[in-house]
Amino acid sequence: MNNFSFYAPTYFAFGRGAENRAGELVKKFGGTKVLLHYGGGSVIRSGLLDRVKDSLKAEGIAYAELGGVKPNPRSGLVYEGIELCRKEGVDFILAVGGGSTIDSSKAIAAGTVYDGDFWDFYEGKPVTKALPVGTVLTIAAAGSEGSPDSVITKEEGMFKRGASGPAYRPKFSILNPELTCTLPAYQTACGATDIIAHLYERYLTNTKNVQTTDRMIEALIMAMVEETPKVIADPNNYDARANIMWAGMMAHNNSCGVGRSQDWTSHQIEHELSALYDCAHGAGLAVTMPAVFRYNMKHDPARFAQIASRVWGVPMNENDLEGTALAGIDALQKFLCSIGMPKNFAELGAKEEDIEYLANTCCYGDGSGNGKIYGFTVLDKEDVRNIFRMMV
Ligand code: NZQ
Ligand code: ZN
Repeated sequence: MNNFSFYAPTYFAFGRGAENRAGELVKKFGGTKVLLHYGGGSVIRSGLLDRVKDSLKAEGIAYAELGGVKPNPRSGLVYEGIELCRKEGVDFILAVGGGSTIDSSKAIAAGTVYDGDFWDFYEGKPVTKALPVGTVLTIAAAGSEGSPDSVITKEEGMFKRGASGPAYRPKFSILNPELTCTLPAYQTACGATDIIAHLYERYLTNTKNVQTTDRMIEALIMAMVEETPKVIADPNNYDARANIMWAGMMAHNNSCGVGRSQDWTSHQIEHELSALYDCAHGAGLAVTMPAVFRYNMKHDPARFAQIASRVWGVPMNENDLEGTALAGIDALQKFLCSIGMPKNFAELGAKEEDIEYLANTCCYGDGSGNGKIYGFTVLDKEDVRNIFRMMV
């Protein structure tokens, strides 16, 4: 196992009615003037936003508000949020929504206290300073409620890029599984796919002897495979929603990823798909992961065979590790299709003629196509092109 430091100081309030603690928690973490940030309206329709406002009012906390975050959140609204926070003297940002709202909140939090362009952080500058952020989560998916990451799409060029830093870890996150019961089945499945991807991309490691985190990841994927069909069948199954919600946090706050190299190839490739086609991140991952895994399998068939047998119940054939590995990838894809996820470019709404553009922007941002992806393996543009072709 590699050396590591792990400090993930987010306070979690979990369970029914937890959103009514929003005001108390903002106060606990020093907020006096809040920006309430939210998406396209689901939190208004469900009455959640009003409950959060009531909770702030009960603690005498003033707030400004900015809605309209789109899935795959855009830079334009971030600039608007930064201006609003400065004008209103905001000292705490409360995200009420999903990963997109949380990521937009984090970008605003960093940009408000930074003299330059917030996009600098999305081109590699580490985030060391930001306004404190709290979250009221409404979808189990991105894991941004416990992660030090944020992903934003720059409208000029439609580039999707991530930024990271300890200042991006939320001070608190409110997780009430009931709030996720209003999710459409497709969105629930997209979230589940993202959670499984966060686990797989940590499992695909070149570090040896990491049994503890291997076993944690296997357990979480198995829980997702058990619980997801239950909520697709019955959206109001509270216990299944609760298990998925906590798995989503555990999958991405990095407790399962410490001390080991990680992959992230599927995420890097998928981000180009959701940037160009505005598809859901999870749906893009459902198409991307099996192709990336089949392409990379020969790098370490034993690792893929291990997850195939331990998670998917594929009989381990020591004389045919590649066969065992491929059967596991087939089982993953079959599961994703069974919960309603797309399997190829056509089902996702992606186009074969865009492959050259996608490969160029993926390797990397400047469109030159001269960069590489450093994950489980090292991939160049030709590899990425081949992987996209496997998705058609
Ligand atoms: O905008 P509203 O009206 O709220 O509707 C949203 C949106 O349309 C809807 N929704 C959310 N909760 C709901 C609900 N509808 C009904 N009932 C509810 N309870 O769901 C749609 C998707 O919301 P979004 O926030 O986009 O989903 P998600 O949490 O999957 O976030 C996706 C974004 O997170 C990024 C992705 O790239 C993508 O941009 N990621 C962020 C990460 C991080 N910060 O650590 C890591 C991830 O790998 C991921 O890349
Ligand atoms: Zn993800």
